[in-house]
Amino acid sequence: MHIIQTRKDLRALVGQWRNAGETIGVVPTMGALHDGHLALVKALDGKVTRRIVTIFVNPIQFNNAEDFQLYPRGVDADAALLAATGAVDVLYTPSEQEMYPPGFATRVMVSGLDSMLCGGDRPGHFDGVATVVSKLLNQTGAHVAAFGEKDYQQLCIIRRLVSDLDMPVDILPVPTVREADGLALSSRNRRFTPAQRQQAALLPAALSACLAAMQAGQPCDSALADCTATLQAGGFTVHYLELRAQQTLQPLSQIEPGARLFVAATLGGVRLIDNMPVPTP
Ligand code: PAJ
Repeated sequence: MHIIQTRKDLRALVGQWRNAGETIGVVPTMGALHDGHLALVKALDGKVTRRIVTIFVNPIQFNNAEDFQLYPRGVDADAALLAATGAVDVLYTPSEQEMYPPGFATRVMVSGLDSMLCGGDRPGHFDGVATVVSKLLNQTGAHVAAFGEKDYQQLCIIRRLVSDLDMPVDILPVPTVREADGLALSSRNRRFTPAQRQQAALLPAALSACLAAMQAGQPCDSALADCTATLQAGGFTVHYLELRAQQTLQPLSQIEPGARLFVAATLGGVRLIDNMPVPTP
């Protein structure tokens, strides 16, 4: 596995691959890697001949400096994990200076999709994501880029920007990887105390119960209110809990095929997001 830090070196290697007719897949990440990230690498199997993982803790997608400072970093452990898979050709870890040199002034903004759900309480967050992902896709020249359904709104925004900007890359969605108790894997889970970590499993359990209640005929509003109350009783602060259409992210007032439940909630100062589709019978 090559470890590359500059656009120049990356371009040279990717150029050689492309000239040799190879196909390239990329998994953009912010590091602190776990099995959710590795599932994205695995999802590229059979789709491309070369795999690049990028690690860059992107300052422009953080709303507050403390969250950026607290974001777990450990490139050596991440590199060891990736090397052990035997499936990664390049780990690309550009510096902040490399990504945002002096004078950097462009922002990619996907309007509409960026102001709902997580966009509401994290202004500017998705502009930061859209900007860095545009750069990483251009820098890597990837034919396929894998993104997790865990960050479903992010996935929708990236699909939109790739289509709107005519970028020649296929976006590969990958289902959420969960712990045995249902909690979605996330770098943020490391911040929980053992007791909080146990409590956190209430989040996916409450989402599943809410979807089941809707499917059993409980009106959507009342099922959402019950779910919010359950989460609050379990110590969560709920930022949003909404049923939306997974293609357009427009709000829905009842379940239908393609409906998805979205939540953001904080437990012990750690903000979690999750989403689940209406199960198919
Ligand atoms: P990060 O949070 O590191 O996530 C990198 C990728 O891993 C994203 O596509 C995310 O959806 C996916 N992922 C995280 N947890 C997952 C899980 N439990 N199951 C499946 N996939 C999971 O998302 C970002 O970084 C950044 O915003 C980024 C796109 C890299 C831009 O900076």
